[in-house]
Amino acid sequence: MDMQELLRKDSTHLFQNYGRQDLVFTHGEAEFLYGADGREYIDLVAGIAVNSLGHSHPAMTAAICDQASRLVHVSNLYRIKEQADLAEALAAISPAGLDKALFVNSGAEANEAALKLAVRNTGRSKVIAVDNSFHGRTAAALKATAQPKYQEGFGCLMGDFARYVELNDIESLKAAFDQDTAAMMIEPIQGEGGVRPCTMEFFRTARDLCDDHGALLICDEVQTGVGRTGKWFGCDHYGVEPDVMCLAKGLGGGFPIGCIMSTEELSRTLAPGTHGTTFGGSPLASAVALSVINTISSEGLVPAAMDKGGKLMEGIRGMIAEDMEVRGMGLMIGIGMGDKAKALQEHCLNNGILVNVCAGDVIRLVPPLVVGSKSLQCFLDTLGSFMEDI
Ligand SMILES: Cc1ncc(COP(=O)(O)O)c(C=O)c1O
Repeated sequence: MDMQELLRKDSTHLFQNYGRQDLVFTHGEAEFLYGADGREYIDLVAGIAVNSLGHSHPAMTAAICDQASRLVHVSNLYRIKEQADLAEALAAISPAGLDKALFVNSGAEANEAALKLAVRNTGRSKVIAVDNSFHGRTAAALKATAQPKYQEGFGCLMGDFARYVELNDIESLKAAFDQDTAAMMIEPIQGEGGVRPCTMEFFRTARDLCDDHGALLICDEVQTGVGRTGKWFGCDHYGVEPDVMCLAKGLGGGFPIGCIMSTEELSRTLAPGTHGTTFGGSPLASAVALSVINTISSEGLVPAAMDKGGKLMEGIRGMIAEDMEVRGMGLMIGIGMGDKAKALQEHCLNNGILVNVCAGDVIRLVPPLVVGSKSLQCFLDTLGSFMEDI
């Protein structure tokens, strides 16, 4: 493959809205990606917590081929069997009461739907979000994303509905609620914000305050959901049952799909005509997501994520310097590296390992749930050699 030619086309004809690395992949298998440069890479990024089954998992490939050979898309004007099957499977693993699904195509869209549901249901106009959150880049999700760098220049598109509170600051949380609070939107572990888990007290207090004020708790599980953290959903670690849960990323294992789960009663808020999307829950997307959930279940990947992630975190903790920090749950791990994050990313790449830097100074590890222990050991060895050199 001619890299110069690719770079020419890319820079001439693609929006330059991503900070891309000059790496091109031709194919993948499990946690391995194969580059056009002929190298093998251990993928600890997984499309940013997306490829839950890794690359080219036979069950997912079979689901794609089988469904595509029969029916790819029909409108939501009709009943869709694959969508109903997926909804039933999701209801079975979701926190109690979240029995109803509405399918969309991305995380931002899921959050947008949840926000629309909340304001329409409560008739109120304020939503509480957490500093450094990330909920997506569509207008309402962007307003709930409490990071000025993402909002800059888009003010006129966003309503003035959000109130921001500091992560894990109970006093700031209590002060934000009032009688006009429709909802609180929260990530159990902030992902883009630097892999920062809520404390037990913060998350549970948010639940209590929502109950006290008649507001809805919307749990953004776009990054934490579908087994990544060692439980099906991040909120399961906290014993917190949200009113609405938002999913995307790992749900489709790489095939675009998102969804909100809510109670039966809340689902009635979005009566026919109030919300929808052409592609949401297509037969193909639904069949693929169902194969992902079934495979995660049958291969025991949820407890495996807990086990592998726990060992990995322990290994990392034993190696990093005193002014560094490791955080996370299951296979969603962040290493606060200070000004060494980019250098570690580079060192990993030189050793054939892909890792991601988020929030400027955090190395984020969100590998496929199928990642092997040999690959994780390889990362630890590479971290070890990096720490020796600095
Ligand atoms: C917690 C969370 N919510 C929402 C989103 C937005 O998802 P998408 O990029 O699919 O719109 C992301 C993406 O990183 C996310 O991590």
